[in-house]
Amino acid sequence: MNNGLAATPQMGWDNWNAYGCDVSADLLLDSAQAMADLGLRDVGYHYVILDDCWSDGRYENGSLRPNFEKFPNGMAAIADYIHSLGMGYGMYSSAGKYTCAQYAGSLGHETTDANTFASWGVDYLKYDNCYNEGQSGNPNISYARYEKMSTALNNTGRPILYSMCNWGQDRPWDWAFTIANSWRATGDITDFFDRPDVRCPCEDKEGLNCEFPGFHCSVMNIINKMVWTIQRSQPGGWNDLDALEVGNGGMSDEEYKLHMTMWASMKSPLLIGTNVQTLDAKSYSILTNPAILALSQDPAGAAIIRRWSYQVPQKDIFGVGEVQMFSGSLSNGDYAVVLLNAATDEMHMNATAGDIFVDEGGKISAAAKSAWDVYDLWANRMPDSVANQILQSNGTAGFSAAQNYYYNATAQSYA
Ligand code: GLA
Repeated sequence: MNNGLAATPQMGWDNWNAYGCDVSADLLLDSAQAMADLGLRDVGYHYVILDDCWSDGRYENGSLRPNFEKFPNGMAAIADYIHSLGMGYGMYSSAGKYTCAQYAGSLGHETTDANTFASWGVDYLKYDNCYNEGQSGNPNISYARYEKMSTALNNTGRPILYSMCNWGQDRPWDWAFTIANSWRATGDITDFFDRPDVRCPCEDKEGLNCEFPGFHCSVMNIINKMVWTIQRSQPGGWNDLDALEVGNGGMSDEEYKLHMTMWASMKSPLLIGTNVQTLDAKSYSILTNPAILALSQDPAGAAIIRRWSYQVPQKDIFGVGEVQMFSGSLSNGDYAVVLLNAATDEMHMNATAGDIFVDEGGKISAAAKSAWDVYDLWANRMPDSVANQILQSNGTAGFSAAQNYYYNATAQSYA
């Protein structure tokens, strides 16, 4: 959306994954303060976003009323505090009669609610899809419903980042770019690495099978769903893979690193979804890895491309599960390479120059003709297995990937 916002995928914190409906003024103020104190703000996590369950119906004049038990000083006071810390304030509503947790929704109240949000000093709106009164099922209907709020927000004159949350319904990557800064592209994330037993909606290539968010998606569900459409984003409008689960305890640290790597290199918004007041050191280091954040915030905004994937069908020396390889170019001429090992065991994976550098026409790009240094972005050094080794244009770099471990090698011009 051409409103000057989200030139790179937005970063921040959203309370939903860790707290659900348990929201309050203290939660927001203490979390914002923790983000400033820990330096999360200073590495780019800018927005503090209050999700569902904050309101208490409407006043007689039709405007939204906050729940004053949860927010005794109202919402503008929250915005003021967050602004005083140098951060942006996000709020939530739904393009439906109710929000997903059955609080008042904004369908039919778009102008009133946009004006209310602007008057409170809101900088970001997450706009959901529940109780949409049947106004879905084809792109034109969904577009019209979400466009109303987009226009209403623009008309306030306040820059408000517009984050559509419609779970990929009606292929938003085809039509949302002109009206929104991001659009949720799948059902809700859960704190699971891989749930082959659970079907995540919107998994089919066409993205048409996306009724409710109640089906819960694992990290691998979301990655596999999005490989088909992830390139359909650009500066100003991003596919949103949902808030991060890093820190919530359901995955190993290596799995969380994979989660973080893929959200960064697929150019999803990066919204911390855990308790930042009790953040442990490992989660902190995953969320703040400077090289991974640089991948996310690369000005070119080009999502990484899957070059191959392979399903290890049954238990053998490589374990069982799936391996995938991605690469993509960065604005400074570097290449990012991700070797994703979601199998059960350590795996030896190869990425050839042909895999890494093939351009859209299927030709090996000119860039591949030079020699490249290889860096492991998590270890912030060359991987042991390729130390002193340079990836040649027709050569192969071999990486020994531990269980659920992957290298994110940026190939750098050697010259
Ligand atoms: C939907 C959204 C979630 C969250 C909840 C709140 O499920 O997809 O991200 O906002 O609603 O009720």
